[in-house]
Amino acid sequence: MGKLIVCDHPLIQHKLSILRDIKTGAKDFRELVTEITMLMGYEVTRDMPLEEIEIETPMGKAKAHSISGKKVGIVPILRAGLGMVDGFLNLIPAAKVGHIGMYRDPETFNPVSYYCKMPDDVASRQIIIVDPMLATGGSACDAIAELKSMGVNSIKLANLISAPEGIKKVQEEHPDVDIYVAAVDECLNEHKYIIPGLGDAGDRLFGTK
Ligand code: PRP
Ligand code: URA
Repeated sequence: MGKLIVCDHPLIQHKLSILRDIKTGAKDFRELVTEITMLMGYEVTRDMPLEEIEIETPMGKAKAHSISGKKVGIVPILRAGLGMVDGFLNLIPAAKVGHIGMYRDPETFNPVSYYCKMPDDVASRQIIIVDPMLATGGSACDAIAELKSMGVNSIKLANLISAPEGIKKVQEEHPDVDIYVAAVDECLNEHKYIIPGLGDAGDRLFGTK
């Protein structure tokens, strides 16, 4: 089964509380999503392999370390996942970004896929799927399946707020994918919104409601 890593650093918890607050407007919401993503990025990238290199400092030759292994691809699930892209790009500026467009059908709550554009070399990359909300897990599972159908075999999932139902679904359907979250909330309501959650992440990011 894939690991669940809860990134509960005090700074993340503090910023998450402001993010959830109904009084937090779109500008602050966007900034907080970027800040929390960067803090989570520290954990998401913790197992990146290093290689030993030799460098020359003003004091002479020295052994040092450089990131090696697979190149990284960041894949936001549109729309809300876009909010987490800058946080990762601040840490890994050379990463490429692929986009998956998906929305939840308001009646069935099943994800509907409407867009997919990946870098040509996506199959050889370490992919990090980003989306602030993991609710039923339907969108994340479909996004993972879509990437696997393109030959991707190294996928991590990073969400800010998750529900137990979504975690269970991803772990059952994609046991090879580790999940990084900032919080595991209580449950889903009858509209499949996370409780307490933060409401509609896309609307809060882009001010559409
Ligand atoms: C939200 C969120 C996830 C999805 C999570 O997107 O950003 O993609 O719901 O729900 P799930 O785990 O039950 O699939 P939404 O459908 O609201 O689209 P938007 O980002 O375009 O607003
Ligand atoms: N999508 C959101 O934006 N929020 C939720 O709570 C669930 C799905």
